[in-house]
Amino acid sequence: MHNTASPANVIVITGASDGIGAEMARQLARQHGKSLGLVLAARTASTLQTVAAQCEALGAQCLVVPTDVSVQAQCQALIASAVERFGRIDGLINNAGISAQALFTQVRAEDLGWYEQLMRINLWGSVWCTHAALPHLHNSRGRIVAVSSLAGLIGVPGRTAYSASKFAMTGFFEALRAELVGAGVSVTTAYPGVVLTNIRSHGLNAAGQAAGSSGLKEDKAMGVEECASLILRGMQQREREVVMTAPGKIGRFLKLIWPATVERMALNALKDDVKPR
Ligand SMILES: NC(=O)c1ccc[n+]([C@@H]2O[C@H](COP(=O)([O-])OP(=O)(O)OC[C@H]3O[C@@H](n4cnc5c(N)ncnc54)[C@H](OP(=O)(O)O)[C@@H]3O)[C@@H](O)[C@H]2O)c1
Repeated sequence: MHNTASPANVIVITGASDGIGAEMARQLARQHGKSLGLVLAARTASTLQTVAAQCEALGAQCLVVPTDVSVQAQCQALIASAVERFGRIDGLINNAGISAQALFTQVRAEDLGWYEQLMRINLWGSVWCTHAALPHLHNSRGRIVAVSSLAGLIGVPGRTAYSASKFAMTGFFEALRAELVGAGVSVTTAYPGVVLTNIRSHGLNAAGQAAGSSGLKEDKAMGVEECASLILRGMQQREREVVMTAPGKIGRFLKLIWPATVERMALNALKDDVKPR
């Protein structure tokens, strides 16, 4: 039996079973308590249930919807389940994503299929969820969040697939933002730098298998709590963009004037043993 009082604020989060998505769910639950309806989506039901229990303990009403965002029908079913349970959607946080680390020259032609799969998760999952949710976001004059990456502003070596997917997200949501100005639906694109989650060890290697370790230097990585809180503040304030690190803020402008310097900065982000020779 679930609490039947309708929450005033309903937010759908993809990739809510771990990392930044799970932390955003907990922070939202802490801020809004029982006035919040949270719809938590990812592939793994058991970890989603754990996050839901944490959020329910903070007063939020939760709906867990196991979803693979690389399948359009599952994105549509996610949004339909959210509306069936809560009757409205006020926010959609497109956060589900996977990473990969491989120099392009190391990827065999027969393994290039994972480039497409990564694009289906990072880009198409966001497009499909957003398309299905848009009529409901129109009704609520709601908020869309796209969790892109600094790799969606600056090409990162060893991350051609990931950068391509995040640049695509950046462009898609920038164009959509302009389309939705008159409708009162905001689009906030977040560009985290390196954040301390398991994304890089879960990410793929040249053969499309789990990499098992990170290829990036992580000594200056941001904590997941700070990253989640910056994204949520951007969503709340309907900011266009959330660029959260100094190298990110400087790098995007430096790139226009001294692109070679930014290339060197990007190469320097890699651990020595994965740098191109
Ligand atoms: N951590 C960083 O340094 C960093 C930096 C910049 C941007 N980002 C972006 O931030 C977002 C969250 O990353 P994170 O670091 O929190 O990663 P994470 O800890 O690995 O969490 C990723 C989440 O996405 C879900 N997911 C993966 N594939 C999915 C699929 N096909 N369908 C539905 N859900 C899926 C995972 O759950 P399941 O495995 O259960 O499906 C998990 O809940 C990503 O878009 C990432 O690109 C992260």
